[in-house]
Amino acid sequence: MTDIKNITEEMAKAELAQLAELLGKANIAYHQKDAPEISDGDYDRLKRRNFDLEEAFPNLVRADSPSLQIGAAVSEKFEKVTHAVAMLSLGNAFEDGDVFEFDTRTRKFLNASTERISYTAEPKIDGLSLSLRYENGVLVQAATRGDGAVGENVTTNARTISDIPQRLENAPNVLEVRGEVYMSHADFAALNERQTEAGDKPFANPRNAAAGSLRQLDSQITKSRPLKFFAYAWGALSDPLGSTQMDAINRLKSLGFSTNPLTAVCNSPEELIRHYLKIQELRADLGYDIDGVVYKVNELSLQERLGFRSTTPRWAIAHKFAAELAWTHLEAIDIQVGRTGALSPVARLTPVSVGGVVVSNATLHNEDYICGLDSKGEIIRDGKDIRVGDFVQVYRAGDVIPKIADVDMSKRPEDAQKFTFPVVCPECNSPAIREEGDAVRRCSGGMICPAQAVERLKHFVSRSAFDIDGLGAKQVEQFCLDGWVKEPAEIFTLQERFGSGMQQLKNREGWGEKSANKLFDAIEGKRKIPLNRVIFALGIRHLGDSASKLLAQHYGSWDGFETAMISASEPESDALTELLSIDGVGAVMAASAVQAFTEPRERALIDRLVKQLNIEDVAPVAASDSVVAGKTLVFTGTLEKMTRAEAKARAEGLGAKVSGSVSAKTDLLIAGPGAGSKAKKAADLGIKIIDEDTWIELSSRA
Ligand code: IVH
Repeated sequence: MTDIKNITEEMAKAELAQLAELLGKANIAYHQKDAPEISDGDYDRLKRRNFDLEEAFPNLVRADSPSLQIGAAVSEKFEKVTHAVAMLSLGNAFEDGDVFEFDTRTRKFLNASTERISYTAEPKIDGLSLSLRYENGVLVQAATRGDGAVGENVTTNARTISDIPQRLENAPNVLEVRGEVYMSHADFAALNERQTEAGDKPFANPRNAAAGSLRQLDSQITKSRPLKFFAYAWGALSDPLGSTQMDAINRLKSLGFSTNPLTAVCNSPEELIRHYLKIQELRADLGYDIDGVVYKVNELSLQERLGFRSTTPRWAIAHKFAAELAWTHLEAIDIQVGRTGALSPVARLTPVSVGGVVVSNATLHNEDYICGLDSKGEIIRDGKDIRVGDFVQVYRAGDVIPKIADVDMSKRPEDAQKFTFPVVCPECNSPAIREEGDAVRRCSGGMICPAQAVERLKHFVSRSAFDIDGLGAKQVEQFCLDGWVKEPAEIFTLQERFGSGMQQLKNREGWGEKSANKLFDAIEGKRKIPLNRVIFALGIRHLGDSASKLLAQHYGSWDGFETAMISASEPESDALTELLSIDGVGAVMAASAVQAFTEPRERALIDRLVKQLNIEDVAPVAASDSVVAGKTLVFTGTLEKMTRAEAKARAEGLGAKVSGSVSAKTDLLIAGPGAGSKAKKAADLGIKIIDEDTWIELSSRA
């Protein structure tokens, strides 16, 4: 990873685009499919990198930035619930230093740099969050977090959880209790035993089991799964629960909720860390998974002043535990070819239990990684390479794809050979090329490579792309293997080629006349499709769901988009300048999009597809409705009721831009006592000037 200090704006823009895409995908895998694809540790590291880059280049924060998103959009299985108060996520601390920094930052924000602040510290439960709404003491709704703003209605299922009271005595008229649904280790083991006996797939870990159990369409199934609930926060309230976090938690306890007994008040960062170490020591015997300790500012009035960044509160942080490790043998290295042709090495391991989960595969990322270098050429594992036969240390952080953290050189077999990375694709024998500056070697076969063709077709029919009923990953893979569908356009000629009398399709296993007809109808129904879905479905590298939406919103129509991409292949063209000026489009993404339209084979593929479609235009997005949204504000003079940081955060939270100097672009000046030249300049320019009280009124009304 390049040090932030050495990064140019252009590099940061490209990296932020990649991070948005990677984290977007990871979010969907984790939150919607309950099947994480990257480790929690990697996820946290990517998020951290995104945060650091955005801090260094605040002007590059993307509309689809992962720092502005929580979780992922909700599944269509459940009715949607808009949360009255957004359900947020937490910033992370990994080291003691981060905890001290959190304390310093908090005090600075509050202008209390010398005073001590009291905090609560409690286990971070590794489950899924749930918001319970009580009206007049009656449970009326239970909703998952979803994307933070809109969750899934799981009320019927939540009613089957014995820790969740159906009625409350002496509760506020409106009370939203928030907490974590989880499964104990003992219940998880028993459930997996039952799953295996019944011939069903066991769950990878208790978190997945809890999520899978709560998000069942049949509440009888949820009922048969022993779920538990810890209350630790709240949303909408008609009356306060107390004046401190600790009081509020005690009140929830007296109302009948389970609260975590390891919640404590600590008066300094040192005390927080002591409590963290205590919880870490107890961790193995708790009987349920936790992945860290959450620190919260205890005084609720201070929490209120501290407020929120886009998706995380300033008044809380999660101090994560380090990842889990185990040693085992590396039996083989296999190469998998992905959608974009990337050759990914996979380690086949002698199965070993890592933190309670049996692991038999690990990712080896790319050839440099096997040699002991990360993607930026920096040395990892002290430069030790990985060889078949090695005794390796597997690292997992509550995830699905583990990594190799270390190699025991003393146990390396004498005849162990250095791994030679293939230079031809193992699937189609096309040359596998590694471009300058890319850590990944890619098959150059395009759609003639069966592995790429299958992966691209699977992507094409995926949820955010064409999402054709009856044509999922499995079906399209089968069609592709049989040579019925070799490229996306051929999906739309299936009926013409194989539909006659339906004989051929009907004869296939798993298909009857009814399902074949249904499939053809579903395919017909998708000829008319919004522009952003088509762009995403093309599977162009670096163009994820959110980037596709940005492009669709910018260009509006297929013709506009296509013409622009073709013109943008000229290096000095206006079309390229325009493409790069789109907020959220970086050089890497732009180059990739343009390439898809200039590479003749790709272009022909796209043309054949577009002929089959009726692509709908996409309208540009509407702006936020706050009075200061989109406006540029300047603060000057002394603010007496809030710090500058607090004022700036509040303004940005309302969609305004905060600038340090007055210019013709300034819309509003907020002037406190002692305002000098800026106020004069603003007055000269005829810019509206207001005082702090008016600002507070304006910003709380908005
Ligand atoms: S407080 C506004 N406390 O961690 C912040 N969250 O990474 C509200 N979690 O979405 C969250 N244990 O699902 C809080 N003791 C705890 C928690 C906890 C687990 C989860 C929760 C949250 C996620 C954030």
